[in-house]
Amino acid sequence: MNSSIEITPNIYWIGINDRRTHIFENYWPLPKGVAYNSYVILDEKVVVVDTVERSHMDDYLDSLEGVLQGRRVDYLIINHMEPDHSGAIKTLLCHHPEMTLVGNSKTFPMLQNYYGVEHNLLEVKEGDSLNIGQRTLNFYMVPMLHWPETMVTYIPDENILFSGDAFGAFGTLDGGIFDDEVDLDYLEEEISRYYSNIVGKYGVPTQTALKKLNALPINTICATHGPIWRNHINNIIAKYDKWSKYETEAGAVIAFSSMYGHTEQMADTIGRFLVREGIKKIRIHDTSKTHPSYIINDIFRYKGVILGSCAYNGGIFPTMENLLCELECMGIKNHLLAYFGNKTWGGGAIPRFKTFAEKIKWEVVAEPNETLGAMKPSDIEQCKNIAVAMANKIKANE
Ligand code: FEO
Repeated sequence: MNSSIEITPNIYWIGINDRRTHIFENYWPLPKGVAYNSYVILDEKVVVVDTVERSHMDDYLDSLEGVLQGRRVDYLIINHMEPDHSGAIKTLLCHHPEMTLVGNSKTFPMLQNYYGVEHNLLEVKEGDSLNIGQRTLNFYMVPMLHWPETMVTYIPDENILFSGDAFGAFGTLDGGIFDDEVDLDYLEEEISRYYSNIVGKYGVPTQTALKKLNALPINTICATHGPIWRNHINNIIAKYDKWSKYETEAGAVIAFSSMYGHTEQMADTIGRFLVREGIKKIRIHDTSKTHPSYIINDIFRYKGVILGSCAYNGGIFPTMENLLCELECMGIKNHLLAYFGNKTWGGGAIPRFKTFAEKIKWEVVAEPNETLGAMKPSDIEQCKNIAVAMANKIKANE
C-alpha cells in the first residue's frame, strides 16, 4: 500500500511502522513498536533520504513508487548505515540500479562490508553541497550520533533537517507523522528511552552536533524514527541538550536483584527512608523483571542510584551483572551512588559493586550494607544511613 505523506511540497515521508519486532537491535524492548522513516525529495533530480529496515520491503516500495509516478531515483542519501535504515539499499538498487549513493568516507567501507556495494558512489565531506535543481542539499558530519559515519542532510531555504537517529523515538506513528499530530504524552517515555538506550553513550558527540546544528535555522526535523518535528523543535533540542549534559532531576532509582525477598526488603526499606527524608521521585526496579532499558532510562532522569544484590554462586546476581555491564559500557556521568548486598554465607555482590563504582566514577555517598539473610535491626539502621546520605546529597545538588 502506498502510505506516503507529503511533508512540504514535493517532499514526502515514505516510512514504515514496525509493530511486529519485539526487540530493537535484538536487545531493546519495543512495547509500542518503532517507525523507520525514509523520505523522498522530488526536484529536477529525485532523491531518497535513508531507507528502512528490510522486513517491510513491499510496503516501502509501494510508497516509493507511488510518490515517484514513474520517475527514477537519482540519488540515495545514506545518512546512517545501521541496517534499520540501510536495509533496503540492495532492493532499492535492484529497482533503481542507476542511482548514485551519497555518503562520506566512513559510509562506503560499511556499505561494502554489509552489502557488497561499491559502485555509483558520491563521497561528500563536512559542509559539502549537492544541487538537485531548485534545492541544494548540505551535508554535515555528526559522528557517533549514532555510528562513526553518521551525517545529517540539510535543505536551506526550507530549513529542513534530515537528522538520522538524532531526535528519534521508539514507538510507531499511529495515524499522524508530525509532532502536532501524535500523542506526545503517550510517546514521552519512548522518546527518552530511545535517547538513553541508543544515543545515550554518546553525550559528548551529541553536544558537538548540537552546537553545529545550532547555527542552522530549522523549521522541520525529519528523523529516522518517531515523529517529524515542526512545532516542538525547541523542546526536543532542549531535551537532547539536557540529556547529553547528563543533567538530572532530584530523585532516586533503586535497582535490586533478589532471590528470596530479603534484598527486595532492603530496597523497600531504603525507599521508605528516602521518602521520609523528602525525596518523592523514587523508582524501584527488580532487575529480574524489568529490562535494563527502562532502568537506564530512569537513571538518565534521576540523580541518585542505589543498587542492591544478593550473592549468587560467589558473585553478583546475573541480572544485576547485566545492568552493571550496560551502565559501564554507556559511561553515564554525573550521578550519586550507594549499594548494598545480601550474602547468606560467602557474599559476592559487594566486591563487584566496588569495581563498578571505581569504573563508573560516580560519587559513592554511603558505606555499603551487607545483610546475612533477613534484615536485623542493625541492617534497618544501615539502610536508613544509606537513604539519609543519598537524600542529603540529592537535596544538596538541587
Ligand atoms: Fe536507527 Fe542507529 O539506527
